[in-house]
Amino acid sequence: MKPAHIAIIMDGNGRWARARGLPRTAGHRSGVEALRRTVRAAGEQGIHWLTVYAFSSENWSRPKSEISDLMGLLRLFLRRDLAELHQNGVRVRVIGGREGLEPDIAALLSEAESLTANNTNMNLVVAFNYGARDEILRAARAIAAEAKVGNLDPAALGAVDFEAYLDTAGIPDPDLIIRTSGEQRLSNFLLWQSAYAEFVFLPCHWPDFGADDLAAAIGQFQERDRRFGGVAAKEAVS
Ligand code: IPE
Ligand code: IPE
Ligand code: MG
Repeated sequence: MKPAHIAIIMDGNGRWARARGLPRTAGHRSGVEALRRTVRAAGEQGIHWLTVYAFSSENWSRPKSEISDLMGLLRLFLRRDLAELHQNGVRVRVIGGREGLEPDIAALLSEAESLTANNTNMNLVVAFNYGARDEILRAARAIAAEAKVGNLDPAALGAVDFEAYLDTAGIPDPDLIIRTSGEQRLSNFLLWQSAYAEFVFLPCHWPDFGADDLAAAIGQFQERDRRFGGVAAKEAVS
């Protein structure tokens, strides 16, 4: 089976640029092109959910100029590509903290979500100002506040109830998580949701990622034997 939901840690823009003697921002610009290609390729592969890690809650620790370049690229992506995504029936959702974002960025993110809210061909989830610990902490705070006023019984809270408080409420868990650039870590991405995800780590840097890499990662996924703590289907009958 193909994965219903693929999540991608788009990493390696800076190293891609350095290898070419270019400034890091040139890597980020090429990274946006790779994102466009990948959304198209995922649609062609019949992938219904695509999540991309665009900016983490820890990426604020980068130099001011790099942050402002990244914000500029997000603005450009939303302004330039939103109409096309909408035309292609792509629903855009954004996960991550919304507090403290520049007002025009927050407005663009909300506009992308409301414009595309009724689209059903494909879902693009953008993780922006996202950190899984921050997401889980915000959920815990909201749950504690509900419990404090007596709207919720902590003893009766189950996993499904908990998930409704996460930014990913209503989004299925990722089946496959791909990370480019050779790093093999989650960097605070989807910690709760990745419990049973399959991982594919690719050596290529994100600006070089394309349809063939996506197809190869899907191929690797299809060879995996997912057991979810049980026994493989063929073992179960013997
Ligand atoms: C990924 O590329 C883009 C973001 C994290 C925003 P990097 O900027 O992390 O590139 P490297 O990892 O330094 O090469
Ligand atoms: C993870 O990449 C975040 C994104 C791809 C947006 P980083 O480059 O920030 O991760 P670390 O610092 O190498 O773990
Ligand atoms: Mg990186």
